[in-house]
Amino acid sequence: MSAQLIDGIALSRQIRADVAARVQALKERGVTPGLAVILVGDDPASAVYVRNKVKACAETGMHSVLETWPASMSEAQLLARVAALNEDPSIHGILVQLPLPAHMDAHKVIEAISPGKDVDGFHVASAGALMTGLPGFWPCTPYGCMKMLESIHYDLRGKHAVVIGRSNIVGKPMAMMLLQKSATVTICHSATANLKAMTLQADVIVAAVGKRHLLTADMVKPGAVVLDVGMNRDDQGKLCGDVDFASVREVASWITPVPGGVGPMTITMLMANTLDAAERA
Ligand code: GUN
Repeated sequence: MSAQLIDGIALSRQIRADVAARVQALKERGVTPGLAVILVGDDPASAVYVRNKVKACAETGMHSVLETWPASMSEAQLLARVAALNEDPSIHGILVQLPLPAHMDAHKVIEAISPGKDVDGFHVASAGALMTGLPGFWPCTPYGCMKMLESIHYDLRGKHAVVIGRSNIVGKPMAMMLLQKSATVTICHSATANLKAMTLQADVIVAAVGKRHLLTADMVKPGAVVLDVGMNRDDQGKLCGDVDFASVREVASWITPVPGGVGPMTITMLMANTLDAAERA
């Protein structure tokens, strides 16, 4: 039997409509949520991402500012821009697109963002809040994954979730969010001795490695839910995830496609976080 699709485009549309309505209500009280996006250098993929973020702001009625700086910008100059945006009352969220040029310390730059404006959820204060269950901004990609599970009314309590990938942006916060919903969580990574033995035990698998065809049908328990965070290119240059979609969809109960799955949810949750930041401010 073929798995049902969790449609990230349709779910994004619903959530963005709700965000747009709340933005309108806030505007009627005299506050327009504002997002500042800083892009340093000329990485083409980053340029596409930031353009989509700015576009999503316009679609949901938010104000946005895109600052594009050359790769030759100094770290001190970037820190000064972040400091200025921290003080700007028209800006509720600040996003510094990663990766930064090699001469900059990304940790230092992220820590310079005011935690109240950290809509990416990358600041240690945000990570600490997630870990301790305090209110704070959740990183957008794993947050989007949680919304996808919520959309199919999936009860995580007592389920075994296996997260493949241990990045600060996806793997680690994903594990914390699943844990918060009382799943038993295993984090697998490049040094995991027997990945298949782990994934075969999973009720939920989140693949977030950046390696195409990492997860194949023989690694998935029948009826498992599979979320694919991967963004890779196949030999024809077509976008594909970390999951061997054609085979895994025959084993899983639910699966996210690539494209049209987790990807659109990331920007949607950025809009939700920016709105939350404005509502809190
Ligand atoms: N680079 C790739 N993904 C992201 C993201 O979600 N936020 C930022 N700031 N940079 C990224």
